Amino acid sequence: MRATARAQPNIALIKYWGKRDSDRNLPAVGSISVTLDELYTTMHVELDGALDLDELRVNGRSSPSLLPRVTGCLDNVLGADRMRGRVISESNFPIAAGLASSASSFAALVVAASAAGGRERTTDELAALAGQASGSAARSLHGGFVELRNDGDGIDVRTILDGEAWPLRVIAAVTSTMPKPVGSGEAMEASRKTSPFYSRWIEEQDMDLSTARDAITVRDFGKLASIAEHNCLKMHSVMWASRPPVVYWNAATLACLERVRELQADGVSAFFTIDAGPQVKVVCVPGEEPQVVEALSSTPGVESVLVSGIGAGAALVNGH
Ligand code: DP6
Repeated sequence: MRATARAQPNIALIKYWGKRDSDRNLPAVGSISVTLDELYTTMHVELDGALDLDELRVNGRSSPSLLPRVTGCLDNVLGADRMRGRVISESNFPIAAGLASSASSFAALVVAASAAGGRERTTDELAALAGQASGSAARSLHGGFVELRNDGDGIDVRTILDGEAWPLRVIAAVTSTMPKPVGSGEAMEASRKTSPFYSRWIEEQDMDLSTARDAITVRDFGKLASIAEHNCLKMHSVMWASRPPVVYWNAATLACLERVRELQADGVSAFFTIDAGPQVKVVCVPGEEPQVVEALSSTPGVESVLVSGIGAGAALVNGH
């Protein structure tokens, strides 16, 4: 009746932005990400017939505001007539700040809850359940370079290249740890309903996915860098043109982009990407990591720098 699972966040290189079915939380577009390794969320679930309500502690504190999403996810995994659960979540990086904590949290939650409830599930089933809770979480069931495709009435998530085959590094520049002003789900709906660029974003996504997939398959860093930066800036353009506008960047976000441009002008193999928050993630080849860390750490407004390689998908801790 209890289990612990660990999952790593993932960073999208070709972004998910928009839903084709908001009730079932199905994405409007496919996406490609890398699963990280050094950053993680550990989720412990204990089902207890004596509890009247679910309980949630996040990083040592009771978290009533996050509880409804966790309860909804447990209902999906175990059925609404399930025993209530005690859920303990610990992340070793700032949550709710655009570092994909919902991805690692819900990926770990579906794995731990299924095991605690004695439900045997395939990775595909776990990915579908995680995706219902948070679209990006479906990708954290897999390791390496991961593609999520829209597949008929659902999603299909696969590793397209293992991390060992192309061990790139990811450096995250944290420019603010404040919770984001508007959640990504709400912001996506605002974009779908009001952004004049939304339809073009949807139209072009398959082309971007295919360019990135090809670049990853042949390990062409320059090609991946160019399509990932383009796709990221296109997604943020969709957001900026929404009404009301959705702007997650701060001054340090832009300063980091300028630093990356300077590094690139010096011949450093690195590119940036930014999700629904002000942090800048820079992907680089292993040998360039010290230079990228130094450049981002010395950029005004950067509070801290987190470094990670590419890791594995969500799994139970110690097999239970
Ligand atoms: C910008 O997965 O957080 O990070 O499905 O509403 O929970 P919900 O959205 P979420 O959105 C992630 C958006 C993104 C891009 C990406 O990770 O692909």
